[in-house]
Amino acid sequence: MRKPIIAGNWKMNNTASEGAALVSALKPLVKDAKCDVVVCVPAIDIPAVKKALRGSKIKLGAQNVHYAEKGAFTGEISADMLKEYGVQYVIIGHSERRQYFGETDETVNKRTLAALAAGLTPIVCIGESLEEREGGLTEKVLSAQIEKDFAGIDDFSKIVVAYEPIWAIGTGRTATDEQANETIGFIRKRMKKVYAGKRVGKMRIQYGGSMNAKNCKGLMAQPEIDGGLIGGASLKAADFAAIVNFDK
Ligand code: 13P
Repeated sequence: MRKPIIAGNWKMNNTASEGAALVSALKPLVKDAKCDVVVCVPAIDIPAVKKALRGSKIKLGAQNVHYAEKGAFTGEISADMLKEYGVQYVIIGHSERRQYFGETDETVNKRTLAALAAGLTPIVCIGESLEEREGGLTEKVLSAQIEKDFAGIDDFSKIVVAYEPIWAIGTGRTATDEQANETIGFIRKRMKKVYAGKRVGKMRIQYGGSMNAKNCKGLMAQPEIDGGLIGGASLKAADFAAIVNFDK
């Protein structure tokens, strides 16, 4: 009943022309996809990728958005700026932004509310570190993120959550199917409790972290997993298409 959603997070890869070439190669490979397909591209690639996406159902996403409507925030990009270019999705609170760019639960929450107000679909990333998992703190860490990052949201059917265990990102070390399923099940249960009556049951939760053409089928077969947020494997058309076509 929840439509799967596979999104690529290109991170800081692909110039505008490289990005346009990548989506041109991707288009025919995913034309029969039954899931939602999104590419989250560097902001400066947006115009070229948008043009290259014409005639396809692939949706355009960004990797960050500022929480203010406008103003003195040098280097930042507003939700309206993204919206005007036809961007529909935006990744918020990726662990790399939390780690390298001072993103906090508070700013994640503000950015999420700003994206929703502008009609964008936020893909909000949460997840624990290796130390936290090994220390048995996964549920505690996720519960704190759940309470802070999503405060004030009225309709959870309008957001996507990406569960990305930090230890699985770019490491080649994927969570097992069962680990990912169990943790995503926990997130959903916890959110239903904290945000009761706000359509949490309709919210999609992706897995992210070294997901690839080989392991995607097993992960996507899990009942709690509604999709994937793909880093490295989204940079090659054939690899990303194989994940998008996980059900073929
Ligand atoms: P990798 O797929 O490269 O591990 O990256 C995952 C990720 O961070 C997606 O946002």
